[in-house]
Amino acid sequence: MRFIGNKESLAPKIYQIIKQYCIVDSPNIRSVCDMFSGSVSVGKFFKNQGFSIYSCDMLYFSYCLQKAYIENNQVPLFNNLKNTLGIQQINKINSLFENEQNPYQIVLHFLNSLSGIKGFIYQNYAPNGSKDLAQPRMYFSDENAQKIDAIRMQIEIWKEQGLINDNEYFILLATLIESVSFFANVAGVYAAFCKHWDKRALKPFMLKKIELICSDKTHFCFYGNSTEIFSNTNKHFDILYLDPPYNHRQYAPNYHLIETIARYDNPQIKGVAGLREWKNQKSAFCNAKSALMELESIAKYQNYRNLVLSYNSEGIMKKVEIDEVLRPLGQVYFEKIPYPRFKSNRNESKKHIEEYVWILENKNTKESK
Ligand SMILES: C[S@@+](CC[C@H](N)C(=O)[O-])C[C@H]1O[C@@H](n2cnc3c(N)ncnc32)[C@H](O)[C@@H]1O
Repeated sequence: MRFIGNKESLAPKIYQIIKQYCIVDSPNIRSVCDMFSGSVSVGKFFKNQGFSIYSCDMLYFSYCLQKAYIENNQVPLFNNLKNTLGIQQINKINSLFENEQNPYQIVLHFLNSLSGIKGFIYQNYAPNGSKDLAQPRMYFSDENAQKIDAIRMQIEIWKEQGLINDNEYFILLATLIESVSFFANVAGVYAAFCKHWDKRALKPFMLKKIELICSDKTHFCFYGNSTEIFSNTNKHFDILYLDPPYNHRQYAPNYHLIETIARYDNPQIKGVAGLREWKNQKSAFCNAKSALMELESIAKYQNYRNLVLSYNSEGIMKKVEIDEVLRPLGQVYFEKIPYPRFKSNRNESKKHIEEYVWILENKNTKESK
């Protein structure tokens, strides 16, 4: 998904660096904790490499993605739903899509064929629904907002009626969350909507299936402040991967609308953008001073064999300051990965920036190279 700091393309390079300095082929080195999971690209990458994953984020929609991509290990069968929707209905939908055998795809066809409902998203984030505002909001077209409402309500009804299990619920939510970003009238983040319709936002909304990963390992996902959650566990990780925010921009207001679609909790909203309250989702990493203190307290847990920190070269914590925090705690390795700058409207002079990668080997551990 489009997400600031998404490491999908960097994850293989970060893994190369990890392999250069740490023994990761040993059968004993098999757990990765992705403490700032975001779009879950790093957790997905390591799950595909055969690791057992722990992951966490303070955004609820990230938790939904984690539950679907990381914790879930099965292709969903939707057995209860199949019986309830009735074989006739399934056959009708099936006949529209010849030879379609996959229950997940059938359920998506069913959801895609629902009539729109004028729910919370339509009333607050589509131009006609919010027409009484001084500036009606244009996050979604009227039709697409109603479709999103109808799908989101249906998923909740199925869950409340016990027709889908937890895995199926989160897979459907993750599918909706991923699909929404292909139809939102925004320039990357949700802090503002575009004042003209982007072509993308005018296409009729459709859920698109997500690629699930099945593995033979057990995985665990958490929602909340990672610093607190992982200070209270006895779990020891082979790789503790940190990818915290690197500038002052907080994630919660930038992704407020996806958060609301995921929670669907009719929040009080305010301002031109219709922001929900987010004071409980402020990250200490968005302030230079508290970021360093936070990093230090995580590094001092010593609940890892190797701590891996990836951080933008233009981040608010300076390289020398990070060195000062990590070096007293063990052997530190450092590498840089150059990559193209994320496209933005600002007129930036440099086309490339670097991702800095630190590996801190816990000095109580002897198994690294
Ligand atoms: C740079 S992004 C991570 C990007 C992620 N690696 C990816 O590939 O998409 C930082 C993430 O950290 C989360 N975050 C910030 N502070 C947090 C905290 N104290 N606990 C949990 N999550 C936090 C943000 O919500 C955001 O999703």
